[in-house]
Amino acid sequence: MTQTIQFTLNGSPVSIDVDEERTLLWVLRDDLSLTGAKFGCGEGLCGACTILLDGEAVPSCQLTAGYAAGKKITTIEGLEQDGRLHTVQKAFIKYDALQCGFCTPGMILRAVALLSANPEPSSDQILSAMDGNLCRCGAHVRIIQAVQTASEAMKGGRS
Ligand code: FES
Ligand code: FES
Repeated sequence: MTQTIQFTLNGSPVSIDVDEERTLLWVLRDDLSLTGAKFGCGEGLCGACTILLDGEAVPSCQLTAGYAAGKKITTIEGLEQDGRLHTVQKAFIKYDALQCGFCTPGMILRAVALLSANPEPSSDQILSAMDGNLCRCGAHVRIIQAVQTASEAMKGGRS
């Protein structure tokens, strides 16, 4: 059923008329033209569609639009602030932690959620947190290096 749904998207209020049962990923991509979140498996298994929902990394392919009502959503498009990339984004560039880039928005948002909840994760904690995000290009080693470096930079107040 079509309803007016309101939520905060990348820091700005959004109000859209949408079938509340539609998948949030497609609402973001098709209705709101935010194509950073990708469709991979469609089953909550690959992490390509990861967004932040009230700060938590979640698979948007598994959520309905109605679930977003009243919540704060961050997509990769909203991560930079005033033209400055997030520390995690900078670390991914520094370590060349991507190849095709398909998994990258989800990887970065997963890492942001991790470092927000746990600013000083151990290597095992990083591996565990990133485990649900798959990279078909095999860039995992560089991705983990980037997350570790971002953690150190955020801990030291560098960005
Ligand atoms: S597309 Fe959502 S987890 Fe794979
Ligand atoms: S960089 Fe291609 S899937 Fe990860």
